[in-house]
Amino acid sequence: MNLTLHVWRQKSAKATGSLVTYAAPDISPDMSFLEMLDVVNERLIGKGEEPIAFDHDCREGICGTCGLMINGVAHGPERATTTCQLHMRHFRDGDEITIEPWRANAFPVIKDLVVDRGAFDRIIAAGGFISASTGSAPDANTIPVPKENADKAMDAAACIGCGACVAACPNASAMLFVAAKVAHLGMLPQGQPERYSRVVRMVEVMDEEGFGGCTNIGECAAVCPKEISMEFIARMNRDLLVASVKGRRTNE
Ligand code: SF4
Ligand code: FES
Repeated sequence: MNLTLHVWRQKSAKATGSLVTYAAPDISPDMSFLEMLDVVNERLIGKGEEPIAFDHDCREGICGTCGLMINGVAHGPERATTTCQLHMRHFRDGDEITIEPWRANAFPVIKDLVVDRGAFDRIIAAGGFISASTGSAPDANTIPVPKENADKAMDAAACIGCGACVAACPNASAMLFVAAKVAHLGMLPQGQPERYSRVVRMVEVMDEEGFGGCTNIGECAAVCPKEISMEFIARMNRDLLVASVKGRRTNE
C-alpha cells in the first residue's frame, strides 16, 4: 500500500505543533498501525531526521498505553480496537491518514503524539485502598458474590485507562473512565467499606484535573476499545447521590 500521512509534530510541551506530511510507500496490509509508524520512523532515522514520538507498550490491546486520533477518531475506524491492534488492511491503497495526539486540557502534549495521562493516575490514587483482612489466603467462596455483580465488576475492570473516552468527548469528560474504576470495586463485597468516600474523592480529583462534565453524548462509549458501557456513569452518579445524603467522606 502507498499512503500519505499527515502527522502532528510538536518538539516539546511548550513548542507550537503542526501537521507534517510524509509519504509512506510499500506498507504491508498485514502490519499493525504502530508497525506502519515503526517503518516510517526507520526511514526518517535513515535520513537523519527526528522519528515520530508515540506511546506504546504491550501492543496486545491490554495495557492502555497506545492511543492516537486517526482521521479524527480515537483509536481509528475499527470498533472495540486499540490503536496497536488496528491493522493496515482496514485502510485502502492511496489513503491519506491524519494522525494526531489525544486533545484535552487535562492531557497536555509532551511531544508529537505523546500526551501526559498522569491525571488518570492521580484519580486512581485518590481512590485509595480497600479494607480487607490480611493473613493466610481465605478459602474459596467464603465471600459469596452474586454472579450478575461479578460479571458487571469484571466488565468495568476491563477498562485499560487509555483515555480514548476523554479524547472523543466534546467536553473532554473522564466520566466513563472514572465510572469504570468506581464500579469495579463498588460492586464487589470487598469494595464496600470505602465505597462512598472513594467515589467522592475520585470525582473531586477528576474535577480538579480539569476534565469536563458529562452531557450524555456517548462518544466515549462509541470509541472505547473495551466497550465500557455508559450504564456505569449512571451507577457512579447514583453512588455520588447516596454519598451526598450519607455525608461526604464517610461510609456510614
Ligand atoms: S473507559 Fe474505555 S476509552 Fe476510557 S480509558 Fe477505559 S478503556 Fe479507555
Ligand atoms: S500498546 Fe498496550 S494497549 Fe496498545
